[in-house]
Amino acid sequence: MTVNELKQSFQESFGHAASAVYFSPGRVNLIGEHTDYNGGSVFPCALSFGTYLLVSPNDKGVFRFKSLNQPAIESVSLDRLTSPLPNNSWINYPLGCIAQFVKRGFEIRNGYDLLIWGNVPNGAGLSSSAALEVVTAYMMNDQLNAGYDRTELAKIGQLSEHEFAGVNCGIMDQFASAQGKKDHAIYLNCDTLEFELVPIKLDGVKVVISNTHSPHKLDSGAYNSRVAQCHTAVEQLSRVRPIKHLAELTEAEFESISSAITDPIALKRAKHVVGEVQRTTDAVAALKKGDIATFGRLMCESHKSLRDYYEVTGEQLDTMAEEAWKIDGVIGSRMTGGGFGGCTVSLVKDEAIDTFVKQVGANYERRTGIKPEFYIAEIGDGARRVE
Ligand code: GLA
Repeated sequence: MTVNELKQSFQESFGHAASAVYFSPGRVNLIGEHTDYNGGSVFPCALSFGTYLLVSPNDKGVFRFKSLNQPAIESVSLDRLTSPLPNNSWINYPLGCIAQFVKRGFEIRNGYDLLIWGNVPNGAGLSSSAALEVVTAYMMNDQLNAGYDRTELAKIGQLSEHEFAGVNCGIMDQFASAQGKKDHAIYLNCDTLEFELVPIKLDGVKVVISNTHSPHKLDSGAYNSRVAQCHTAVEQLSRVRPIKHLAELTEAEFESISSAITDPIALKRAKHVVGEVQRTTDAVAALKKGDIATFGRLMCESHKSLRDYYEVTGEQLDTMAEEAWKIDGVIGSRMTGGGFGGCTVSLVKDEAIDTFVKQVGANYERRTGIKPEFYIAEIGDGARRVE
């Protein structure tokens, strides 16, 4: 869909023109998985696909929401903006962001008409929900002249996810969507929120995203239980050495006190986190030196740790990664995002891309019975007003 088609659709849906158009991207994470809510670092990039939001104030005293993927227009009156809708309505993602502005004391005097369309594949672990949250936060910030910076908008998106979607996520996805920069990855310290943009234009190598089209979605129960297991590990370790986050420990420090964790599941989860934090540091250092081979090796180790210790991969993601590892010219490959289905991310030499798509595609389909999809990632800019 082009912006002009979206504007026409807005006109048809609401009977008047949109006054502004916004966009916010999805993301792919290169390394640093399940580290964000443990105070560790992550290394995501914003994608060129994402979510568009067209808006215009109305005089009806309601927010009217229309998604091009859903048949109906739904209305929420101004006095109901801070309560989630029942039945996991998709509207909770934008509504949760609008609610944060109300909670922060901004007076919303008139209603708005909102039309939403996204081209991030849903449930693929590429943060379609964060794109929707951040585009809404960006729009409200602009419409209300609230003056928040991009980091604050990411926090608003994260709070929406916690309070209106029930997922106790970290900050990575919303941060990448808000702060992304074309041809750069974001090396973000999720404890301090300090970050560095690292150029990711790689000579003769592309970032390839493989969608498993696995029916499993990131379900909030499995995600929240991982967050809780990490808290258990922190609590038990803190009896011998007070810590706030698992990411504070080096691997050696962790090994020396890990027997304090009596819960075997929490022990495995913590082992992944501490190792992944180190891998992320090492991977970014290697990339900066131009040592892409080390970066790729660490990506593969990350996948194995997510499979064996964090247990968030599953048959489809494992199959996709294993098939990628077999291809000459694959520098590294791993699951990306929350897991339990979704996508892998691979660094593939230009000359191997055709073979990659053909062989990984055929072998994956033969082994799982599911037809996968492949995208060459274009690394784009973060949230913005388009018109
Ligand atoms: C999901 C969450 C993120 C992060 C990843 C795993 O995408 O939204 O905050 O925890 O999973 O790295």
